[in-house]
Parts: sequence; C-alpha cells; structure tokens
Amino acid sequence: MSGVNDIRSTFLDYFKKNGHEIVPSSPLVPRNDPTLMFTNAGMVQFKNVFTGLEQRLYKTASTAQKCVRAGGKHNDLDNVGYTARHHTFFEMLGNFSFGDYFKERAIELAWNLITKEFAIDAKRLLVTVYHTDDEAFNLWKKIAGLPDEKIIRIPTSDNFWAMGDTGPCGPCSEIFYDHGDHIWGGPPGSPEEDGDRFIEIWNLVFMQYEQVMKDERIDLPRPSIDTGMGLERVAAVLQGKHDNYDIDLFRALIEASEEVTGVRAEGERRASHRVIADHLRSSAFLIADGVLPSNEGRGYVLRRIMRRAMRHAELLGAREPLIWKLLPALVQEMGRAYPELVRAESLISETLKLEETRFRKTLERGLSLLSDATTTLGKGDMLDGETAFKLYDTYGFPLDLTQDALRAREIGVDISGFTDAMERQKAEARSHWAGSGDKATETIWFELKEKHGASEFLGYDTETAEGVVQALVKDGASVASASAGDKVQIVVNQTPFYGESGGQMGDTGVITSDTAKIEITDTQKRGEGLFVHIGCVVEGSVKAGDAVALTVDHSRRSRLRANHSATHLLHEALREVLGTHVTQKGSLVAPERLRFDVSHPKPMTADELKVVEDMANEIVLQNSPVTTRLMSVDDAIAEGAMALFGEKYGDEVRVVAMGQGVRGGKAGKPYSIELCGGTHVGATGQIGLIRVLGESAVGAGVRRIEAVTGESAREYLAEQDERVKSLATSLKVQPADVLARVEVLMDERRKLERELAEAKRKLAMGGGQGGSADAVRDVAGVKFLGKAISGVDPKDLKGLADDGKASLGSGVVALIGVAEDGKASAVVAVTPDLTGRFSAVDLVRVASAALGGKGGGGRPDMAQAGGPDGAKADEAIEAVAVALAS
Ligand code: ALA
Repeated sequence: MSGVNDIRSTFLDYFKKNGHEIVPSSPLVPRNDPTLMFTNAGMVQFKNVFTGLEQRLYKTASTAQKCVRAGGKHNDLDNVGYTARHHTFFEMLGNFSFGDYFKERAIELAWNLITKEFAIDAKRLLVTVYHTDDEAFNLWKKIAGLPDEKIIRIPTSDNFWAMGDTGPCGPCSEIFYDHGDHIWGGPPGSPEEDGDRFIEIWNLVFMQYEQVMKDERIDLPRPSIDTGMGLERVAAVLQGKHDNYDIDLFRALIEASEEVTGVRAEGERRASHRVIADHLRSSAFLIADGVLPSNEGRGYVLRRIMRRAMRHAELLGAREPLIWKLLPALVQEMGRAYPELVRAESLISETLKLEETRFRKTLERGLSLLSDATTTLGKGDMLDGETAFKLYDTYGFPLDLTQDALRAREIGVDISGFTDAMERQKAEARSHWAGSGDKATETIWFELKEKHGASEFLGYDTETAEGVVQALVKDGASVASASAGDKVQIVVNQTPFYGESGGQMGDTGVITSDTAKIEITDTQKRGEGLFVHIGCVVEGSVKAGDAVALTVDHSRRSRLRANHSATHLLHEALREVLGTHVTQKGSLVAPERLRFDVSHPKPMTADELKVVEDMANEIVLQNSPVTTRLMSVDDAIAEGAMALFGEKYGDEVRVVAMGQGVRGGKAGKPYSIELCGGTHVGATGQIGLIRVLGESAVGAGVRRIEAVTGESAREYLAEQDERVKSLATSLKVQPADVLARVEVLMDERRKLERELAEAKRKLAMGGGQGGSADAVRDVAGVKFLGKAISGVDPKDLKGLADDGKASLGSGVVALIGVAEDGKASAVVAVTPDLTGRFSAVDLVRVASAALGGKGGGGRPDMAQAGGPDGAKADEAIEAVAVALAS
C-alpha cells in the first residue's frame, strides 16, 4: 500500500520514463480562460495547445494538477462531507498528447500503469467507451484482453467529454474499479450505476474537436489525448479503502482535526471532520494562489468554503478559531509536492485566523436566530427567504451555509424569497446612489456594477489573462459594440489591469480578441468595484460578450511596482530620520518617477535626504521578499502598519510588508508595514536603486519628496555622469579631479579679483607709491588731499580715503568718485589729530551740496555722501578746501 505522495510520484515517473515532459500544476485561478472560475481539470492549462493556438517544446506531457470544484459550472460544495468521494479540492493526475500519440498508445500506457506499476487486479477493472467508438472498443480488447461484457458502450454525454460550452472536446473512455459486491451499485449504464460499487478512476479523453460556438464544432489540428485520474480515488483503491476520506492524507488531516477539537470522527460528527479536512485543503490552496476572502467572485466562493468549515468546527464544539491550527498537518502532507503551500504558510494561517475570528463574532448569534426561526419547522418545511437573507446580510451566513445547517433536519430554504429580499436591498442601495448627487455619467457605472458584479482583479499575480467583455461605454452611454477609431471604456469580468488608486496610476496595455485590438491608455475604478479600461479601438470591432485577451504593458508596470515599493521604503526611512510625526499626505506613483508628500514642518537638509536615501537603499540591497497579507484593520495597525491618508479601508485590509529592520526597535522585524492595495515588487532587490531627486514645499507643514528608481535612476545617474565627463574634458582633467580643479580655479579667480581691485585703486589714485602727492596741497596749514576719480566702485572709496590719510600722516582727504551714469559719491576723512578742528561730516555735506545732493553722514573722522551731479566733482573739492580755510 503506498501513500498519496508515492502514488503521485509513481504516476509522474512512469510518464517521464515514457517520454513525457513533467509540467508543474498551473494555478487554481486560470490565466487562459475567461469563463472558468477555477482550474477544474488537468487539461485547462493546455487548452490553447490542443487547439493549436499555442506551441510548446514538447508534444507529450504529464501533470499532477490542483483542481477546485466549487462555484461555477462544476460545484461539489454541497455534497462534501456527506459522500465518500466529493471534494472541493482534489488532484488530477493526467497525461497529454498534443498531436503525438492517440487512442492506441493512450490505452496501452493507461493499462500498463494500473495493472503493472500500480498492480491493480485486472479482474476488478472494466471500461466504458462512447457507443459509436468501435476503434476504442477493439483496442481495449486487443491491449487489455478485456472480454466484451467488460467494455461497455455508453451513448450519453457521460462518454463525451467537453471542458465547457466551448473548447476542446471528444469521446472518452473511462476505467472503473469494482470495490466488490458487499457494496451496493451496478456497472456504468445500468440502473444501479449511481451506487458506490463501481467507481470511475481514470478518464481517457480522445480529444478530436473544438467546440467553437454552441452549435459549431470543428476538428482539432491533430487528434490528441487528455486523461484525468483522481488521485484521491486511485489512492483509495491502492490503499484498500472504499472511501476517499480513509486514505492516508485525509486520515492525517482528520486526526489533526480530532486532536484540536477533542472530538472523535464518529457517528454524526464524522461529516464535520470531513468538511473541515476538505475545506482546509481548498482554502489553503486558493489562498496560496492569490485568492483572498471577499464578497464577490472567487473571493466569495473561498469565503463560503471557509465559513462552511467554521460552522462545522462550531458543531464540534469549537469556541475559538481552530482551522488554522490544522495547517501544519496539511503542509506536512502536501508541502513537498506543492512548495507554494510552504511559501504561503503564514499568509494562509493568518487569513484563516482572521476570517474565523471575524465570523465567530456573528456565528453564534446567527445560529441562535436560525434555531429560533426553525423551532416550529420540521422535515420538508422551508425557512423563509427573509430570515435567510438576514442571516446572509447581518450575520455573514452564505446561503449554502444556511442550507447546510438545515440539511440534517431536512428543512429547505425559500430561495426565491431570499432573492427577493436581496433585490429589495439592492433597489434601496440604488435609490441611495441615485440621490447622492453623483453625476449622471457616474450612474452608468453603478448600473453596470449591479448588473455584472464587481470586476475580478487578477493583477497581483499575473499581467495577462483572458476575460469576457461585459460592457462597452462610448460617450457616456452603453453601446453594443465599438469599432476602429472609437474611444471606448471597457468592462471585462476579470482583469490583470490595475485601476488607479492609492496614488498608483492605472495600467496601460492592450486588449485583443479574434476580431479587434484595443489600446488601453488608462484603467480607472468606477461604481465601487468596476475596473474600467479606457482606450481606443485600433483594429476591427469588439462587442459585449466577446472573449478577449488582456495584456498589461509589462515594463511600465514593473516600473510602477518598483516605484510603489520604493515609496514605502522612503516613507519608513523618513520616519526614522525625521521622526514619527512624518506621515504620508498623498502620493503619485508614476512609471518614470515617484513623488510623495509628507507632513514635516521645515525643509529637509541635504544630509537628512542623503541618510534617508541610504537607508532605503540598504533595504533594497537586502533583496528581502515583499509579503502581502489580509488582516483586520485593527490587527494591522496593532502590528504597526501605517494607514494612508485619504484611503477608505474596509473591514479587512491588505497589508504589505517589506525589508528586515536593522536598527533599534525594528531590528528583526519587517522594515516597512503599510496598508496598501497597490502592486509591489516580489523582493526589494527588484527596485534596483532609489535616487532621491530633492524635496520642496507644497503647503504649510507639507514637504514633497521626488525620487526615481531602477531604470530611471540609472538613466538619471548616467546623465549626471555625462555632465561630469564633459566638465572634465573642458577642464582637461580626469573626472575624479574635477572638484580639485574647480577649487584651484576659484582660488585663482579670487586672487585675480583682488589684484584687479588693487590695480584699479592704484590707477585711481594716480598710480605708484605716493602718486597722489601732486594732489596734496597746503590749505591754511593743513595738508589737504582732494581728488576726483572715476572707474572705482563707490564702496572702495573709504579704503582709498584711509590710504590717503596714512600717506598724509596729518591732514584731510576728500575723494569724489564719479560713476558711469554721472552720479557722484563723496568721502571725506580727517586724521585723528585734526578731528577736534574739522568734522568729516560737516565737510562731506559741503561736498554733497556742491554735487547737488543733500545730507551725508558718518563719524567725525570719516563721512560719506552722494550727489547727482558728478560733473561738479572739482567744484566740490574746492568747496571743501574753502571750508577748511575758513
Ligand atoms: N479532462 C478530463 C476530465 O477532467 C480528463 O475528466
């Protein structure tokens, strides 16, 4: 008997040995199919390979594929826990041929694997073929030696497999295992076929056609093979069990569940343990693949699964969150085969805990309301829709949870009453937004949101996806189609395009269909949940209902991601350097740069900016992973997450953490934790480099930082480098010597300026030592130096006057400077021994009067004045001489 892990690897090894490429499971959220909610078969990731749209390097492949069947077309949720073989999550083992081998080899490979490698007793096996498929019938006879009665022709769609309403399809042949006559049931095609005795373990699909439309089927380029074997079912056979929940993997999970609840998986409690074990698997794998609980789309299916498990935990007596406690057991069982489970373990754990904590707040009250509302009801009765809606709306009970809770008592729920109540509430909401003053053009988005539900955002995990066009809006009105040249706004059911929010600009890119190409220049969020792609049809035409491929401009988005993550790092570094009063006051995350405004009362110094930049780059170089979790706002804030200004947060928030703190209280903790819905790098190293360009004021107490990262930072630095290089060339030095050279030049310049001033001064005073001697005369026994000079800066006059005094030893100096515009400045200086007899102030006023001016001032030994009439300089000097003499 082998464990599930051995069976999986035996299967893959077998096909590897037989020349197949082993391809990893694709994510549970299909990237290449707009109509599928979850990956529900192994062939989903190869859909386009079968149809010839996509080429791979191999022609045969084998996988162990994660599948979820809950919500959407295949929904097993309601049955899980109550049957031996229903699961919301299961693994499908498969082998594929893309135009390589066909029926014969497929049958041979399958038969050899199960009868030789797995050593299943051939006598226990029987097969079905599509009723007209004689070829398959004969091959089974030839290869397996099965007698005619063990090859059953089935005329129904059971033996014609199709992935959906459209897509690859073909007749199929199924292998059944007979669990023995102690179990009730008949072979396929018999009236008792729904019994549990004969169980299908492997489906071989002979892919031959593509259903392109409801009524149109074309041939595939080449006949192909798609097979699917339920790992849990085959494990049951190989482990001698009849019930999938008795295989080793489920036993480990159920034992863990018994341990944490203290309740044995027996009697009526058995189903609850099974529900918990199954739902733990689907929840954990969905979260690991990027789905988080929400009230729409995939997130709501996840929430329903989680809450259903939680109610069963409650039935087992749980009074506090416990599903998360089972996660280590799951990781132990499946983490080796699916490393994403290990990588996401803490995210899964916290998401489970958070959801359970929140739901527990209303679960008990909801259950007691339910019990009050049903006391008088019995088998076959219906719970009224109003109460079911109240449970949904107020107590967070998904409808299927209410149905599940009443199942044991065989009480139903009035679904149409429930839908009516829901409609009434929507109508009320509508009247609210219609009357809230929203512009008429906005109303359309609310209408579309109500009609189609919120758009599903896939862009945290992928930049390409397929979707279905739900609406086209042109000039503010819904239109059925748009064609080349039209400017349109497009709503698609799911999208990888980020809608502008939290400062991060919306994505751009291209949307294509078989018939059209639309260039998307912006993406905006509208109507509380719609992602609206804004662009122009550049080729062909597109209409509502078309399947489209959406591709985000990758390099632009990479830059946006780097800039957004850098914003978080700079924000934290600013808080470290400037203080925790720093909070973000708005931001712009554009592809080429980032800018954000923070509260800080004064300009930042160059040193502060440098330290901020260094710190942020320290975290970039750590190249530590960026993690994202969903938490309650309170928990997030308690963990130190920074909430952003102006953002509206729901009950649950996305928390983005990055970097390892290195200093102080942060050491060993995440460096930055913020509530943020934006897209981020996977690891800080992808930011490349952060370069702060500068800071400026944007308002009272608000500073703006601008920075570039990655490629833009490199371009910026390259430009700077070029500048230095050309400077070096001009200065004829090496770039490293530019600064020294500039300092030498500045020194030289200062020296030259000094020499020039000196030369001018000398020239002004008549040149040479004592050159002003001829201007000196004796006036009434006092030496008087009087001179009119031009070409001298007025501010130099005082210095010249001082020189004059020094050369006279004792006397009076009067200098009149005449500027180019003809205006004059006068300075009079008196040596100390004469200040008792003459005041420089009085004398300069005399000069000023002669120059047509008034006043003047200074000290008795040195005074200054001006006058408009420079032509009267000589007269002014004479006037001073006269004043001296009198
Ligand atoms: N695609 C086939 C199935 O899911 C094998 O059964």
